[in-house]
Amino acid sequence: MEIVICADIDGVGRAAADTFERIIKQKPTAVLGLATGSSPLPLYDELERRSRHGQLTFREVRAFSLDEYIGLPAGHPETYTEVVNREFTRRVDIDPANVLGPNGNAPDLEIEAADFERAITDAGGIDVQVLGVGSNGHIGFNEPGSSLGSRTRVKTLLPKTRRDNARFFDDPNDVPHHVITQGIGTIMEAGNIVLMATGEQKAEAIARLVEGPISAMCPGSILQLHPKTTVILDEAAASQLALADYYRYTYENKPAWQRL
Ligand code: GLP
Repeated sequence: MEIVICADIDGVGRAAADTFERIIKQKPTAVLGLATGSSPLPLYDELERRSRHGQLTFREVRAFSLDEYIGLPAGHPETYTEVVNREFTRRVDIDPANVLGPNGNAPDLEIEAADFERAITDAGGIDVQVLGVGSNGHIGFNEPGSSLGSRTRVKTLLPKTRRDNARFFDDPNDVPHHVITQGIGTIMEAGNIVLMATGEQKAEAIARLVEGPISAMCPGSILQLHPKTTVILDEAAASQLALADYYRYTYENKPAWQRL
């Protein structure tokens, strides 16, 4: 696990975009894993900028979302399909037909989950997955207690997660109780993982995820077992890390051959 501590949110976006750019340039047909929430927004801003300036093209890229609410009407602005469209797809030169998320209104969600997993496998797997983290350590919508080997499936949200996400809805009661999410086992198969977190409200979850024991009580802690995970933080999100100075020293003294 590589920990990168940036001075501000824009720096977090640039560092995450550098990893995406490197991977897409190495493999123009790269498969991206997209996340919603506020955390990846600085990455999407930076990718839009690089796409507009002709520095990076997504013409041959494919992408999969992590998760989706169950039961929101199609086209609702807070469905993750709409969020990904708004924040990423419409802002870069990717073919919208190449962006797929799980359908939270599928008539049979078990079949939908299996089909979604198959689509990722058929695409050759995800080359780089961006993640945020919930304040309780969840990744995707894998709440504490999720099997660390889980695959895409339906989950029930904790009241705290519904409260955290209520800020995106006009009425807090509109936040769905159920979701369909890539499993932790699914996420762990991505070739590279970039986890982004900013703000003090994430500091405790980040300390548990990076330095705590690997446990289903903090689902993101499984990333300690992933060989190519980069955790990109601002100072506030890094503020409870015991080894923060060491991570800074390591990054500042990186030999030229060792890239993000
Ligand atoms: C939701 C999403 C996660 C996201 C988390 C944190 O629960 N399913 O993918 O990481 O929220 O969101 P934010 O980045 O807005 O804090």
